[in-house]
Amino acid sequence: MTASSPIGIFDSGIGGLTVARAIKKVLPNEQLIYFGDTAHLPYGDKSTASIQAYSVKIADVLLKANCKMILIACNSASTAAFELVKAYVASRATVFDVIEPVVEYVKDHHSGKKVGLIGTKQTVNSGVYRHKIEALNKGIIFKALATPLLAPMVEEGFHNNDISEVIIKTYLDDEELEGVDALILGCTHYPLIKPQIDEIYQGKVEVIDSSEMVAEATKAYLIDEGLINKGEKAKDRFLVSDYTPSFENTTKLFFGKEVNLEKYPLWE
Ligand code: SIN
Repeated sequence: MTASSPIGIFDSGIGGLTVARAIKKVLPNEQLIYFGDTAHLPYGDKSTASIQAYSVKIADVLLKANCKMILIACNSASTAAFELVKAYVASRATVFDVIEPVVEYVKDHHSGKKVGLIGTKQTVNSGVYRHKIEALNKGIIFKALATPLLAPMVEEGFHNNDISEVIIKTYLDDEELEGVDALILGCTHYPLIKPQIDEIYQGKVEVIDSSEMVAEATKAYLIDEGLINKGEKAKDRFLVSDYTPSFENTTKLFFGKEVNLEKYPLWE
């Protein structure tokens, strides 16, 4: 791989597109290869072993496409499979997750405060955020609530409407999240419902979206390593393990109408 090699990004579905869009904004000359594992979504309800199997298989697809970097743009996969994917990929590419930049942000901006997390069952039950934030020793009171309806809801296109409002409000009213100063969106699908969460909190709680932080961390890494593409930019590619209209609609909305999805089943 060289500086002109693509950046590989994967998620269970459309959530990681929020990260891909943020990367595109700060690194417009990089080719992106996005893999949406739509045949297996949502990851958040799957076993750790299943998510690990999917993640390694996708990493393999991205390595075959010569990616210089693999970004796990999914919290469920980051908690379940980051270490495994890193070990599997080894020196062939660099692997990033979506958790580390958020933990750094919380350390710098919310020491001594009460910080909440919403995410899938996998993300919350893994305890990865809790472990990393408590290890900072910054007096942060950490609260976490699994919100399993949210990712499938967003994936089905239910955001910014009355149905999503009732579901989001029901979760945010849970006593676990009472009095939080900041709320981490621990799932890459959730930036699509951030306007509704902001509206409910009315500016009293900082809602932390990792996509821009991850994009900035990616850019800093590529600059440090001399891996910024300075040549011609190849066309972005969007691979899906199964076709879904919702994935196609969101991809076209984020990246333009000329985008074509490539069907790429993980197992034939
Ligand atoms: C899911 O597939 O359940 C959500 C993806 C995520 O955890 O970011």
